[in-house]
Amino acid sequence: MDAFVARSLDEIRFWSRIMKEHSFFLRLGFRCEDKQLIQEANEFYSVFEHIEAKAHAFSASTNPQEIRAFNLEVYNAASHIWVFKRKVLGLILTCQLPGANNFPLLVDHISREANYFRNRLSELNNGQLEPLADAIIDENVFFLKIMADHAKFIGHLLDPSERKLVDQAKEFSHDFDQLLWQAQDLSSMRPQSQTQPLLSQFLDQNRVSVASLRDFKKTARDLIEACRIKSIIHPLLADHVYREAERFLAIIDMFESHLDGKRSADLELSAWH
Ligand SMILES: [Fe+2]
Ligand SMILES: [Fe+2]
Repeated sequence: MDAFVARSLDEIRFWSRIMKEHSFFLRLGFRCEDKQLIQEANEFYSVFEHIEAKAHAFSASTNPQEIRAFNLEVYNAASHIWVFKRKVLGLILTCQLPGANNFPLLVDHISREANYFRNRLSELNNGQLEPLADAIIDENVFFLKIMADHAKFIGHLLDPSERKLVDQAKEFSHDFDQLLWQAQDLSSMRPQSQTQPLLSQFLDQNRVSVASLRDFKKTARDLIEACRIKSIIHPLLADHVYREAERFLAIIDMFESHLDGKRSADLELSAWH
């Protein structure tokens, strides 16, 4: 099995669904008169729906050349949706969409996710892999900010009368802001040879918080789906942020196993000498 093909398909299957849903959330937030923007959002929905279907039609035995071309096609689509999201953000920030229902931070957030997706595709196609320690820190900085934002969105989109849940969301927001600062501190302490021994503890700490945020999101999702709490959160948005936490956990696990593999290889090497 070709690792490049498998990695590419895994990224595209996950993120094309995410991009498709972003188009839907953007559309929901526009006003009835924003016909042009609604149409653009619908077009992006179809583009990513098509990409998602194509990614599922390919398999691990697909020719890598074909996947390379597909990655490029998806890279272009991700770039276009990034431009669209930044345009919408600009319109909101300059008060040209008064009464539209998406927070600027949410639009900025989904543009960062598009940019991340685009970068992953170009890294895959260029075969450029960062040193492990740098990749671990960067990935955590990206995802911790994403998790901190999610906690803030949940806190602001729950009905204010859901006091207990709002408080819990605020606590998560604070917790993840702290973790993000810690990750940024570590990021400035590079080079990687010096930060390497700290990574395992760093990942452990992040994992504990992400797992508990994931559980909170799962509970919120189930309650929203069952219409048992008051909020303006679409059930699909609740499920969407839950899946993104699951993705971050899977990435943390992947890094942990790389570190374990590296440690045992280092041990073997030192036993050899
Ligand atoms: Fe998202
Ligand atoms: Fe997100």
